[in-house]
Amino acid sequence: MKAHLTKRYWLAASHRLHSEKLTEEQNRATYGKCNNPYGHGHNYAVEITVGGQIDAASGMICDLGELDGLVTCEVLERFDHQNLNCLPEFRDAVPTSENLCKAIYQVLHPRLRTAHLERVRLEETSMNSFEYSGAPGEPAVGLLGWSGDEESDR
Ligand code: NI
Repeated sequence: MKAHLTKRYWLAASHRLHSEKLTEEQNRATYGKCNNPYGHGHNYAVEITVGGQIDAASGMICDLGELDGLVTCEVLERFDHQNLNCLPEFRDAVPTSENLCKAIYQVLHPRLRTAHLERVRLEETSMNSFEYSGAPGEPAVGLLGWSGDEESDR
């Protein structure tokens, strides 16, 4: 039996959507005003969903203080109030919300110990949201230090 818990955090960051793999014209056609050279900002709502067994003693699936600390150190301090285009995570990837979801997932996944990271969801505006849940072929970094159940669908 597995339970899930979702916590919501806020993250402000700027970006410019521009791909080195596309021409200037293709960039403008693809990203529209999000391709403007000066960039623009978003207040992202970040939802982190973890899953795991309910601990018999605490009745919880993970230590909330530990989760908050991890998200603060590894996600908020890394991405909050940053120009995403300047960060190493986006040296070879366009800082779209899809790729930001993936970057957050990849930084958190190996660091969670008792619960498993199930999903990262980002709300970029009130009109759109994005989710990333890992990839089947993704390196099993999450196995490091992870002591949960032995389900194979991770
Ligand atoms: Ni944007």
